[in-house]
Amino acid sequence: MTTLGTPLSAHATRVMLLGSGELGKEVLIALQRLGVETIAVDRYEGAPGQQVAHHAHTIAMSDPQQLKALIEAERPMLVVPEIEAIATSMLEELEAAGVVRVIPTARAARLTMDREGIRRLAAETLGLPTSPYVFADTLEALRAAIDTKIGYPCIVKPVMSSSGKGQSRLEGPADVQRAWDHAMAGGRVSHGRVIVEGVVDFDYEITLLTVRALAAEGCVETHFCEPIGHLQVHGDYVESWQPQPMNAVALRRAREIAKAVTDNLGLAAPGRPEGVGLFGVELFVRGEQVWFSEISPRPHDTGMVTMITQWQSEFELHARAILGLPVSTALKSPGASAVIYGGVDAKGIVFDGIDAALRVPGTELRLFGKPESFVKRRMGVALAFHADVEVARARAAQAAACVVPRAA
Ligand SMILES: Nc1ncnc2c1ncn2[C@@H]1O[C@H](COP(=O)(O)OP(=O)(O)OP(=O)(O)O)[C@@H](O)[C@H]1O
Ligand SMILES: [Mg+2]
Repeated sequence: MTTLGTPLSAHATRVMLLGSGELGKEVLIALQRLGVETIAVDRYEGAPGQQVAHHAHTIAMSDPQQLKALIEAERPMLVVPEIEAIATSMLEELEAAGVVRVIPTARAARLTMDREGIRRLAAETLGLPTSPYVFADTLEALRAAIDTKIGYPCIVKPVMSSSGKGQSRLEGPADVQRAWDHAMAGGRVSHGRVIVEGVVDFDYEITLLTVRALAAEGCVETHFCEPIGHLQVHGDYVESWQPQPMNAVALRRAREIAKAVTDNLGLAAPGRPEGVGLFGVELFVRGEQVWFSEISPRPHDTGMVTMITQWQSEFELHARAILGLPVSTALKSPGASAVIYGGVDAKGIVFDGIDAALRVPGTELRLFGKPESFVKRRMGVALAFHADVEVARARAAQAAACVVPRAA
């Protein structure tokens, strides 16, 4: 039986989000709707999620001591990582000591924190198909790995980065130095390690949102959302849609891969509960073949489309699953999302054309409320539904294009 309390009372159910960007903000709203007392943590003040939570804290989440002090002071029932750059070894320590429960588990947070943990788990431990890859710590090692194992074209990525930062595609030996420098400048934490991957020549790529939630009997059940297709430009998502039509064999294979990885990441630590929550499993598909790419043990940016396509968005699914509540991944309508970029470097920007955007039939907007805009920073998203997913895509893109951010 799940019992929830009253926020700001002695019996509140308290949940802490580590990272409070646009995805965390929606998780916080979903939790608020269930009367959960929310604590939003980010590395800067006024982050989107901090604007909607009961409590807000600003710390360096990659600093183990700051993280420990905050968790011990707040003592939340659950700690929910929204980003990768967290002192996950401290989370493991606190979880092992019974101080806190981490979603889905502290081990999953550690393994998905950089590309190496999760890639080795998927390819080497679980034997799942992935692109060929090598890790390298120096320019020379990178060059040797490409020459002897990977070949061209290939993709170089810092082991710790997201949204395509520091990533490059290499067509020949002349590109190696530039790719190395770019990776060193774009990595999140300055440790000089990269992964070089062979290019998978896919027909399309998907995010398979996969939910581990408790069934009535108390055991964990795995649920799949309809596959989400998406378009990436320079490693960053610009458009997504659901459902992505798929060959039946490929869909079955995609679910098997997602199940294998999430089963493993959900494994309970000794004496601890099993890992629950929503995962975004990124897969490449060609014909009936499917490759595992990477996974987020939390809502996924391309899954923002579910705010208009599903009865329970990925954020509501995550909130329900982590609280031990039942979930439904049923589709409400096909639909699409299109990203709204800042377009300018400025603080406190304004957005023109909101009315025009919302006059596009069947659309909604989310403006994240980020205090500072950058040209390529994601500031909002347009959502559209339509029985025909192609019409939804066109409408989401049209609505996004109507929104014009500018310096105030
Ligand atoms: N080995 C590969 N073969 C083909 N395409 C690839 C490969 N690796 C990455 N890509 C392309 O680059 C995109 C971004 O790569 P990846 O997901 O690894 O990076 P990321 O920085 O974690 O991105 P995000 O945080 O947006 O998910 C992929 O979605 C895919 O379109
Ligand atoms: Mg990705």
